[in-house]
Amino acid sequence: MMPKRVTICEMGARDGLQNEATLVSADDKIRYIDLLSQTGLRYIEATSFVSPKAIPQLGDAQEVFARIHKAPGVRYPVLVPNAKGYARAREAGVEAICVFTAASQIFTRRNINMTIEQSLEVFREVVQRAKADGLWVRGYVSTAFGSPFGDAVSPQAVVDVGVALMEMGCDELSIGDTIGVAVPSHVETLVPMLAAKLPIERIAMHFHDTRGTALANIYAALQQGMTIFDASSGGLGGCPYAPGATGNVGTEDVLYLLHGLGIDTGVDLDRVRAASRFIAGVLDHPLTSKTYQALETSRIGAAT
Ligand code: COA
Ligand code: ZN
Repeated sequence: MMPKRVTICEMGARDGLQNEATLVSADDKIRYIDLLSQTGLRYIEATSFVSPKAIPQLGDAQEVFARIHKAPGVRYPVLVPNAKGYARAREAGVEAICVFTAASQIFTRRNINMTIEQSLEVFREVVQRAKADGLWVRGYVSTAFGSPFGDAVSPQAVVDVGVALMEMGCDELSIGDTIGVAVPSHVETLVPMLAAKLPIERIAMHFHDTRGTALANIYAALQQGMTIFDASSGGLGGCPYAPGATGNVGTEDVLYLLHGLGIDTGVDLDRVRAASRFIAGVLDHPLTSKTYQALETSRIGAAT
């Protein structure tokens, strides 16, 4: 039983650019996001209000968020790691935030300098405030299928963190395969465990394509009834000099698969390609999305 309609959440400007070695100017980020806003995407992660020491690539969050054209009906969420980030985001006029923790203890420490438990404490306050202020909130559970540091990640740990995030008031969860290690059988194990505790229509799957298994995982998740998928235009993200840190599955690849399966997304593949083409001109390496590459190198049309 495949869903008839799927929502794509665009990660290129945030998860993508945060991992790029090249520092992209605010003007180029704004142009990229504005192009993405013309594609039919309804969720475009814009930037992160994290410590600029942690992610210098997104140190211009304030300016970028202020100057992007906010298309009607499109959500522009930003990452917020703590109360300071929330205050900065609110000052910038943000209406949707993402809090982010993980199922791996070591990754959480390295990423946000907290234990998982501490992060849940910090986010409980942030989410409460955000909901009181009328914001929409997404919660990330990163490293859901494996940690880059070798510590064990169990499906139950993912469920426990996900339940904690939803109980504190998140509107949506995103389950992240941060290092791209999942295969469909992992998805088939985890999704029913999540579905037993949480409303599946409010859970997104976030696959990185590090080992080429992202589309297979999406197909497995579709078969389990999941309808929200994260992707980045062109497959943006990852540094060619840092093995292991590759990008999200390409938005073009996901669109090609879904449209070919007869699943509606409301997103125009060719316009996503145009946004990718723009940002490719700014970066110092070719984009990895197979569908993007195929469309760029051939004139043969594709299902759009
Ligand atoms: N925005 C801007 N600056 C911030 C900040 C925020 N949200 N949070 C903390 N800072 C600043 C503090 O003011 C302090 O600055 P100072 O050294 O000039 O006094 C400095 O950062 C350290 O603050 P502290 O609260 O001790 O944070 P930390 O060093 O323990 O780092 C995080 C914790 C969460 C702020 C940091 O690890 C982070 O931003 N991580 C984000 C990682 C990320 O985005 N990963 C990718 C997404 S998965
Ligand atoms: Zn990611």
